[in-house]
Amino acid sequence: MNAQDIRKVFFDFFASRGHDVVASAPMVVKDDPTLMFTNAGMNQFKDLFLGNSEIKEPRVANTQKCLRVSGKHNDLEEVGVDTYHHTMFEMLGNWSFGDYFKKEAIQWAWELLTDHYKIDPEKLYVTIFEGDQADGLPMDEEAYAVWKELIAEERILKANKKDNFWEMGETGPCGPCSEIHVDLRPEAERRQLSGAELVNQDHPQVIEVWNLVFMEFNRMGDQSLKSLPNKHIDTGMGLERLAMVLQGKTSNYDTDVFQPYIKLIEVRTGMKYTSRRQ
Ligand code: GLY
Repeated sequence: MNAQDIRKVFFDFFASRGHDVVASAPMVVKDDPTLMFTNAGMNQFKDLFLGNSEIKEPRVANTQKCLRVSGKHNDLEEVGVDTYHHTMFEMLGNWSFGDYFKKEAIQWAWELLTDHYKIDPEKLYVTIFEGDQADGLPMDEEAYAVWKELIAEERILKANKKDNFWEMGETGPCGPCSEIHVDLRPEAERRQLSGAELVNQDHPQVIEVWNLVFMEFNRMGDQSLKSLPNKHIDTGMGLERLAMVLQGKTSNYDTDVFQPYIKLIEVRTGMKYTSRRQ
C-alpha cells in the first residue's frame, strides 16, 4: 500500500462508520496563544472539546499536518537521530465529539489495523493508563476490559502518565490514552526477547503507531484537572510510521512518503542516500 492508499483505506473505514472526512488545519495556529504550531489533529477541535463551540458533526476523520518543534510535544531532538521521528509529519485521526467513547474507538482501531491493513496481531502490543496519584486518577479499567476482548492479556501493558496521559499543552483538553505499538523485528529476534520488554524503550523497530486519547479533562493553569462537559475521542496515527509497517521497511525514510524527494536530492547533489538501521 502506498501512502495514498493508506489514507484512502483510513478515510473509507471511518466514513463507513458515520465520520465526516474534513481537511487538515493550517500548521501555524492563529487563534490560540497556548500553541505556536499545530502539534496534533485535535488542535482545530479544541473549542469543541472544551464545550465552547456547538457540536454540529459528532464524528470526524482527517489527516493532519503536524509540526513538533516547540512546546510540550517537541520531537526536535529525535529528528535525524532515529528512523521514526519527524519535525513535520501527518497524523491520521478519528474524533468523536460527545458521541462514541472507548469501546468503539478501541474496537475500530483494532479492526482497521488487523482486518484492513492486515497487520499480524502477533506483532501488536497495547498500553493502558496505570493511573496517577498526584492527579487522583485510577487505572483505566474500562480500556483494559475492552482490550481484553481483543488481544491476549500479556500484550496489554500498563504505562504511566508520561506515556499514557495525553495533554495538548501545559493547559487544555487532556485525558488518559491507550497506545498501539508494533514490533517489526525479525521473527528470530522476537522469539528471543518479547516485544513487551521493548515497548516505550526507544527501540527503533518496536514503535508506537496509534494513540487513542479518551478526552475527559481540561488541565487548568494551576495544573488541576476539571472534567469536560462531554467525553470525547481523539486519535492520532502516524502516517509515515504506518507506511513503514505496511511497506515492510525499517525506516520511515525508506517509504514512498520520502523516497521521491530523497532520490531527487541524490540527483541534485550527486550524493548517495543509504538507509541506516539504528
Ligand atoms: N492527540 C493524540 C496524539 O497526538 O497522539
